[in-house]
Amino acid sequence: SAQLNDLAKAAGLKYLGSALDNSELTDTAYTAILSDVSEVGQITPGNTQKWQYIEPSQGTFDFTKGDVIVDFAETNSQVMRCHTLVWYSQLPSWVSSTTWTAAEMTSIINVHIANEVGHYKGQCYAWDVVNEALDDSAAFRDNVFYEVLGEEYITLAFKAAAEADPDAKLYYNDYNIESTGAKQEATVSIIKNITAAGARVDGVGMQGHFIVDSMPSVESIQAAMQSYMDAGVTEVAFTELDVKFSSVPASADGLEDQAAAYATVVGACLAQSGCIGITLWGFSDKYSWVPTTFPGEGEACLYDDTLSKKPAWTAVSSVLAAA
Ligand code: G3I
Repeated sequence: SAQLNDLAKAAGLKYLGSALDNSELTDTAYTAILSDVSEVGQITPGNTQKWQYIEPSQGTFDFTKGDVIVDFAETNSQVMRCHTLVWYSQLPSWVSSTTWTAAEMTSIINVHIANEVGHYKGQCYAWDVVNEALDDSAAFRDNVFYEVLGEEYITLAFKAAAEADPDAKLYYNDYNIESTGAKQEATVSIIKNITAAGARVDGVGMQGHFIVDSMPSVESIQAAMQSYMDAGVTEVAFTELDVKFSSVPASADGLEDQAAAYATVVGACLAQSGCIGITLWGFSDKYSWVPTTFPGEGEACLYDDTLSKKPAWTAVSSVLAAA
């Protein structure tokens, strides 16, 4: 049967892709799937373009592991989404353990972005410039960047990224912004504020970490996407899609519910012309981040831990084929 990225492109998307982490590369059965561009048309590094890997101590840059993922995508003619520049997590302690002045923090962000985006210039279709700036109450997350610079750190990051790679699409990326609500409204404000400050933001990345039994309605997902387009971005994407069970193992009925959930999200993206692609946050339950972070939960992906296609794979392929 036809493969997912081929179907996604025929349906008008730029790609259907997946996260990939360096530790997975030794699994030849897994990389056989991940390197097949007809199935996986786009790659996001799961970890190794994050700050702790790229600039582990101030002014010392190490692109070795990130380059491995970018080379993988290039070898296989896959679109590269680069992830991520300014995030409170996986931040080396030198960034967060000192009380910086505003001028120092500005320079830290500018130097980090100039070096990282400069290194990957021309290789990234898109960058997740700022990741998860909002907390679960939709207030600005009280991270070290916000403490020193306030909301301005966001604009600063977008300006630095635009300067370092004028051709990369620049995204604001977050979770729980895939449907309407306080966090979606706060995201709209972020987009408007970046633009009002004279910086460029091209896209909103909706991570899309869903739970099978708590799916938002398709109407709510569509309204959220439309609100970002109305705020002035030129595209949106699902950047980290997975749909987990809050208790595993899943039943046969559960797997059908999960298939329907995936179909809803893919269908919502296809109905929005600004939605340009879908990235799965892991292609197989074998390497999903979910059970590590949420013990007892999981089975969130399209392939199971033996690399067999689940009902959700079939549902996604059907929705794409019908478009
Ligand atoms: O590499 C070390 C290894 O040397 C060590 O032995 C091991 C022991 O804990 O840890 C390994 O690092 C882990 C790393 O993944 C690489 O496997 C970290 O502990 C672990 O915390 C880290 O988790 C990543 C997580 O981000 C960190 O917040 C996940 O793989 C990654 O999938 C996840 O991705 C995030 C997105 O970037 C942003 N959105 C949410 C998403 C899911 O949390």
